Amino acid sequence: MSNTYKLSGNSEASAELPSYSGTLGPDVVDVRSLYAQQDVFTFDPGFASTASCKSEITFIDGKEGVLLYRGYPVEQLANNSTYIEVCYLLLYGELPTATQLSNFENDIRTHTMMNETMLRLFNGFHHDAHPMAMVSGVVGSMSAFYHETMDIQNPRHREIFSHRIIAKLPTIAAAAYKHSLGQPFVYPRNDLDYSSNLLNMFFSVPADDYEIDPIAVEAIDLLLILHADHEQNCSTSTVRLAGSSGTNPYSAIAAGIAALWGPAHGGANEAVLTMLGQIGNAKNITEYVAKAKDKNDSFRLMGFGHRVYKNFDPRATIIRDMCHKVLAKLGRDDDPLFELALELEQVALKDDYFVEKRLYPNVDFYSGIIYRALGFQPSMFTVMFAIARTVGWVSHWQEMITDPEHRIGRPRQLYTGPKTRDYVDVAKR
Ligand code: CMC
Repeated sequence: MSNTYKLSGNSEASAELPSYSGTLGPDVVDVRSLYAQQDVFTFDPGFASTASCKSEITFIDGKEGVLLYRGYPVEQLANNSTYIEVCYLLLYGELPTATQLSNFENDIRTHTMMNETMLRLFNGFHHDAHPMAMVSGVVGSMSAFYHETMDIQNPRHREIFSHRIIAKLPTIAAAAYKHSLGQPFVYPRNDLDYSSNLLNMFFSVPADDYEIDPIAVEAIDLLLILHADHEQNCSTSTVRLAGSSGTNPYSAIAAGIAALWGPAHGGANEAVLTMLGQIGNAKNITEYVAKAKDKNDSFRLMGFGHRVYKNFDPRATIIRDMCHKVLAKLGRDDDPLFELALELEQVALKDDYFVEKRLYPNVDFYSGIIYRALGFQPSMFTVMFAIARTVGWVSHWQEMITDPEHRIGRPRQLYTGPKTRDYVDVAKR
């Protein structure tokens, strides 16, 4: 279908632009010929109305609170699947058969170890370096280790890269954690499943026995599933944009990790805990909610609001239930921070400001409370998000590289700087 659009400000100007329908979601207007037709750009800071690509991976209906991975509702995957099966689904587009799943698990297991030279990189970091700084640095360095499998046009090379990075992220994250504690690095154990191995690398020490708690495994696997992908979010778009130049995939993923770190994105899970600590007590909630509403105050309720969801974030509801379960199983159901979070949620959900702006708890509101109960330091929360999202980044990078329409990402701008002027010698300024 094609429509004619009248351009305001110029009664003569109009443009004939085609539009396309996807399988779900709003239609898109193809503005690619607009500049050639009318010498104008579109203007959409923050990309709130821009579809940057075609994608078959994840669908979100923000009004209804729906999230689908390859068509499957995230609630069904959370209830029935495992993180590693979800990785296969996101990467290959279909749920695996039993044989495919077992082969995939084996492929991932063969890549869990880190090159010892890479391990030494951690010694270059100060003990109090933020783990996101270490993880993004070490992932970026991977491009210096695997030259022989880095031809991005070679499908097998891309596949090996995908398996390698999904397998190694927990190992790299655990190494960052151990470095910050000054504890010895714990090597991966390939007899364990993905989440059990992750917990073992984080929490076991050579001097003691470490028993992997099944509730911790269940909670971690669930959190990994729920964070695995979220269509064209900030870090995924960063990976696509960096990767669009043809850079090696490790560098593109390192760029994604850096973007995820920000408090408006994946850094929010750490920021929620800081905020709950600041609020401290239920009697202070009103004061902090007032601060969040005050336009002259930069304080925002962390873990609230979302660019796409204008309804409950389906992931937040599942995580809140898991939070109850984990705390009850650990005998910590009177955790004051959880009680504070529940109360804050109730106050905000009834507040006119939050109701009118349709600000609901997002995925990051309760995840930190689970991580904390399991023994993770707040600075590791966003690293856990990065581990989970790696498969999403990789799936989108693969989709982009194999898309025949893909070009280097290169936005334009509305220039508001000085008009052309002549250079003035320093003595005359
Ligand atoms: N507390 C108070 N006011 C808020 C909040 C909040 N958490 N979020 C949005 N608003 C207000 C905002 O001030 C604005 O008001 P107005 O229209 O009067 O200017 C309105 O709601 C719309 O907000 P926005 O910033 O224009 O919306 P956005 O789509 O650009 O930002 C967001 C989305 C997630 C960055 C934002 O809601 C936010 O900063 N939330 C807190 C941080 C957070 O929890 N981030 C995690 C997001 S989910 C996981 C992920 O993406 O990694």
